[in-house]
Amino acid sequence: MDLLDTIDKNNLPKHLAIIMDGNGRWAKKQGLLRAFGHERGTKSVKEIIKSSAKLGIENLTLYAFSTENWNRPKLEVDTLMKILINSLKKELPTLEKNNIKLNAIGNLEKMPKSAQKELIDVIEKTKNNTRMTLTLALSYGAREEITNAIKQISDKVKNNIISIDAIDDSIINEHLYTHNLPDVDLLIRTSGEHRVSNFLLWQIAYAEFYFTEILWPDFTEQNLYEAIISYQKRERRFGKTSEQIK
Ligand code: IPE
Ligand code: IPE
Ligand code: MG
Repeated sequence: MDLLDTIDKNNLPKHLAIIMDGNGRWAKKQGLLRAFGHERGTKSVKEIIKSSAKLGIENLTLYAFSTENWNRPKLEVDTLMKILINSLKKELPTLEKNNIKLNAIGNLEKMPKSAQKELIDVIEKTKNNTRMTLTLALSYGAREEITNAIKQISDKVKNNIISIDAIDDSIINEHLYTHNLPDVDLLIRTSGEHRVSNFLLWQIAYAEFYFTEILWPDFTEQNLYEAIISYQKRERRFGKTSEQIK
């Protein structure tokens, strides 16, 4: 039987987040430069975006570049930025055709001007699309996001816009880059690493984690289905007992 047929369309993660890892190792395995791995990674990006939308996932967030990734060799950073700009240009029709809205989170001002321009352009052109919101995490770091939120909230307290007592989960949420998105339900990380690497720390409080050894350039639609099937077999208790859930 087709894996797709075993997926319960009424129990999909509302927000799927992916740490796309292993491009460098994929290239090294073939005796190629890391840049080839990043280039090949875009093939998986395209396939996973299309299959997520087709499946009915409403929010897909992809970790594409972290605040810490700025510390990589300049040549690699430049290559990644070039790949991003080209992909945005090339994939606008795919987003349009599939009714996907683009969103970006992170310290976008640190991105090269040409990347910012391309991002703004695609975000503007896809803003009325409704099937799925695709969020790219670029120059993203969860600690920086939370620090920014604390600064903004502190400023509002100082100026008597909100009282200290009013600060709660939802106020903090409103000040994060992800204020328009629900919490993450399923977090996938490829390449066999079992860590979060400063991704969506607040938003994954009750996420289900799925780790796979597969390197990102080898990750396919079928692998996505496997992750979702694993997610659907789990009981999410949110602190309650199993009896309370049933
Ligand atoms: C993920 O692949 C892409 C980015 C972090 C930008 P890596 O480049 O981290 O690949 P590995 O982990 O070195 O194999
Ligand atoms: C996390 O991958 C960031 C992205 C996938 C964009 P890294 O490869 O940078 O993470 P670490 O350094 O191995 O934790
Ligand atoms: Mg990596």
